[in-house]
Amino acid sequence: MTEEYDLVITNGIVVSATQVQECDIAIKNERIARILPRGQLQNAKTTRTIDAQGGYVTPGGVDAHVHLQEPPLFGKGSTADTYETGSRSAICGGTTTMVTFAPQKKSEDTLLETLATTHERAKNNCYNDYSFHLLVGNPSARALSEFKTLRDEGISSLKIYMTYEALQLHDGQILDVLLEARKQGITTMIHAENNHVINWMTTQLEKRKLFAPKYHGPSHPPVAEIEATYRAISLSEFMDTPILIVHVSTPQAAAHIKAAKDRGLPVFAETCPQYLFLTKRDLDQPGFEGAKCVCSPPPRSSESDCDAIWDGLADGTFTILSSDHCPFKYDDPEMGKKSSITEEHPVGRFKYIPNGCPGIETRLALTLGAGRLELTKFVEVTATNPAKLYGLYPRKGGLVEGVSDADLVIWYPEGKMEEFALKNEMLHHDVDYTPFEGRVMKQWPRYTLLRGKVVWDRENGGLLGEKGYGQFVKREESSLAKPLKEGEWEMPL
Ligand code: URP
Ligand code: ZN
Ligand code: ZN
Repeated sequence: MTEEYDLVITNGIVVSATQVQECDIAIKNERIARILPRGQLQNAKTTRTIDAQGGYVTPGGVDAHVHLQEPPLFGKGSTADTYETGSRSAICGGTTTMVTFAPQKKSEDTLLETLATTHERAKNNCYNDYSFHLLVGNPSARALSEFKTLRDEGISSLKIYMTYEALQLHDGQILDVLLEARKQGITTMIHAENNHVINWMTTQLEKRKLFAPKYHGPSHPPVAEIEATYRAISLSEFMDTPILIVHVSTPQAAAHIKAAKDRGLPVFAETCPQYLFLTKRDLDQPGFEGAKCVCSPPPRSSESDCDAIWDGLADGTFTILSSDHCPFKYDDPEMGKKSSITEEHPVGRFKYIPNGCPGIETRLALTLGAGRLELTKFVEVTATNPAKLYGLYPRKGGLVEGVSDADLVIWYPEGKMEEFALKNEMLHHDVDYTPFEGRVMKQWPRYTLLRGKVVWDRENGGLLGEKGYGQFVKREESSLAKPLKEGEWEMPL
């Protein structure tokens, strides 16, 4: 073997979305150069060798649902993490690529300015590679006309909301977005909750003087998600446009999605660790503590809801598992969770608690450590599918020789990591809590590599990556989400 490599990883168990194999990996010029059966790179010339000692080697995580440096949109507060701190947290948890949101406010009528502003926020600040979904708050004629340019700029997905006053689109606006997205090969992500149901329940709860954080749960009842999910699927079917329903939390919404998929519709869905690991008990904590787990949709009633979401990951109902990292500080009376506390409401007022939880660093380790998914499924939903769905594959999310970036996570050999109880102080975000405090962690990335560079080495220095090494990645059209029929949408007459 004459070729000289930058790095060789030996003795790993290499896991892709389809295979688990004992292989060695050679890296050159930031890419995966060779993957060969164990031992075959033994005599290769290389600048550096890492012995994986029998640990799993997986593609670096792709987290396709991340909120950083956003203005107040989901309640009073604004997101705590910057591009710097959020992306730093990402690589320490094995996420080498993130797709964040570029939020257009209702008061703005252009998306291109939103994109430019978001590029400014991210540029030279990221530890990992990144792209953006446009978050469309105002589908004005101008904004719709800009979809084509967005595609040229490497943006092939957007998110819209059926709830939140600051962002909600009505059904006619949703159809406008879906039609234009279809034309331009853009995938539409939908936050599916019925705003009227949420507002009505909120009024009912407040009339009864029920203000504590735990009432966030009943203010977002399952029916709000179930109805909106079915409506979103119906609008997508009518327009023959692919959609992805984000952060699905209820078994019944999952059942609507599964039925749509079984009918062959291009309907995709995401879930998040919150819906695998948290329940309403986490919201029902003494005093204001439950605010730490206020997110929308909320954690649901019981472990059986979580079990149904795990089943949906295993059976393909959910295509991807994202963090929905939407961080607000807890102990921050101006911009954080405590901004909802007043003298009159010492345990806050649930309707003013900013919605969202941090989780970019814990997504992979929590999910792998739970041991509930096949290894290949774990890789599929946390790396390969998000890359395919959002037009990043095979550069990201895969292990394709000569093509994929050498973005890798080397895990501890099975049973060889000393288990630990998670503490927020171990994490690298700029948030003063984690909703997963105290969870027993059975895995953690031993190393994270981004384009061949070791950016996290848990045993030797921890964070080694540098701010600014992360690059913007232009995205192609989704390789998973396509309309059923080619050509222009045909109006049913
Ligand atoms: O609670 C959540 N999910 N935060 C708001 C951001 C979102 O995805 O809707
Ligand atoms: Zn959402
Ligand atoms: Zn979100």
